[in-house]
Amino acid sequence: MAGRRSAQWYAGDDRNSYIHRAWMRRGLPADAFDGRPHIAIANTASDLTPCNAHLDEVARSVANGVYEAGGIPLDLPVVSLGETQVRPTAMLWRNMAAMATEEMLRANPIDGVVLLGGCDKTIPALLMAACSVDLPAVVVPGGPMLTGTFRGVPLGCGTDVWKLSEEVRAGTLSERAFLDSESSMIRSKGHCNTMGTASTMGLLAEVLGMTLPGIAGIPAADSRLLAASHATGVLAVDLVNRDHRPSAVLTRGSFHNAIVALAALGGSTNAVVHLLAIAGRAGIDLTLDDFDRIGAEVPLLVDLQPAGRFLMEDFHRAGGLHAVLAQVADRLDPAAITVTGRPLVEPLPAAQVWDAEVIRSRAEPLQPHAGIAVLRGNLAPDGAVIKPAAASPHLLRHRGPAVVFDSVEDLHARLDDPALDITAESVIVLRGCGPKGYPGMPEVANTPIPAKLLAEGVRDMVRICDGRMSGTAYGTVVLHVSPEAAADGPLSRVRTGDMIVLDVPARTLHVEADLDTRDPSPEFLAALARPKRGWERLYVDTVRQADTGADLDFLLGASGDKVPRESH
Ligand code: FES
Ligand code: MG
Repeated sequence: MAGRRSAQWYAGDDRNSYIHRAWMRRGLPADAFDGRPHIAIANTASDLTPCNAHLDEVARSVANGVYEAGGIPLDLPVVSLGETQVRPTAMLWRNMAAMATEEMLRANPIDGVVLLGGCDKTIPALLMAACSVDLPAVVVPGGPMLTGTFRGVPLGCGTDVWKLSEEVRAGTLSERAFLDSESSMIRSKGHCNTMGTASTMGLLAEVLGMTLPGIAGIPAADSRLLAASHATGVLAVDLVNRDHRPSAVLTRGSFHNAIVALAALGGSTNAVVHLLAIAGRAGIDLTLDDFDRIGAEVPLLVDLQPAGRFLMEDFHRAGGLHAVLAQVADRLDPAAITVTGRPLVEPLPAAQVWDAEVIRSRAEPLQPHAGIAVLRGNLAPDGAVIKPAAASPHLLRHRGPAVVFDSVEDLHARLDDPALDITAESVIVLRGCGPKGYPGMPEVANTPIPAKLLAEGVRDMVRICDGRMSGTAYGTVVLHVSPEAAADGPLSRVRTGDMIVLDVPARTLHVEADLDTRDPSPEFLAALARPKRGWERLYVDTVRQADTGADLDFLLGASGDKVPRESH
């Protein structure tokens, strides 16, 4: 017991250990304090995070596993973020959720933690926290929802909301039919069923080595998730007994593997920002260019929305993550391990593809080269990203005049104005949507197509933004432009009519103008957020740019689990 962290609270006969034990005795037997591992279940369940609302049930299964293995499970509710509910954007609080979770893990008498997440920001925030406190930790991804159907056709969460609403604007779908689809969109518990950010980050948590192997991608409503959650509880006790910490699991090789998987899966562009932020906490020197360098030659193997056709239930039925990783095993770092202490690649030879439509073979990929392309140029000196798999091939090389919007309000006010001078050749530039600008870097980069162009049949245009795009969205959208306009990036100096040249094969993004001789647009400066107090103030003052993960500058790295002082 002496070496156990929780023993620093509970062992001994002094007044303080009395206090720590006495208040915990409400239901816990005396032998709870005999030196057995105390495992926190960091739980992001919340009615206002609908994608995570089922995690209390998952927590019960984890707790059963912890008990079975001789540990004490302790429910620890942590900050939750419902992507569809919170304003102005859940991303504004990813770092707050990470910071609050880190602090509560450190402050409490626990020896290890099981991290329950699902909706987009929750797993990244939990992993950032786990790296910074570095207690033995394992993730349970809450899993995707089952496939809903509308008029006999499967509905992809998010993706089909964007598609159907564009059909309404184009006049090809009635508003009544659109609203009728609403009750079919969310068929069951779980997070979005497309290869959006939640699916991507759940899968990448496993690729990073931070889950029980084989758990990621199991649908939330599938009873196998509860069985795997129980097994994770058992594993958590074992992790503590082996003192196996995130710092021993997460290596450069783990992140290399995550980038390979991100490309083969056709995962969300948001994973770029999240992986950079997690690496920043873990002390791993990961850069934006690593995504292009490692991922660009990886084939796209998974035919899931938004880039393709199917949904997560199909993905799991077709063999899931291991079936995909097995196809690209030659590109994975074989030395990278998981929380089990065994190599990530160990189970892959046994993996099989059960539906070659959903998970393609290496010989017949959906696209030979997938991944995230990193663009640079006088418009994005520190980089910008685009997901070629979700873009229109004919727009990957494009030259067109900018139509600049200073804010989302400006965009909404003018985009559908019939008098707006805009054609299919134009490049929509939306600025003021970066980490500092909005603030919080919202998912607004995939702007709607102007109504008059939609009516002409235009379905995609080049769009450039310092914000993010929903992982469920699609289009030729250049994202995460760094530095952002609000950080005095060149985007703040672009004017409507400037010619913009996008060349994805050459990885460049230029504007044909001498921006150095210009000042930022006064209208843009007037539209900027300038929070005076509270979290927004702290965030705007300290957030880093997207190209390094948009974490707060003082949260980089780790402080470990030590708390030298007593509370009384
Ligand atoms: Fe929660 Fe999509 S809204 S995962
Ligand atoms: Mg999202």
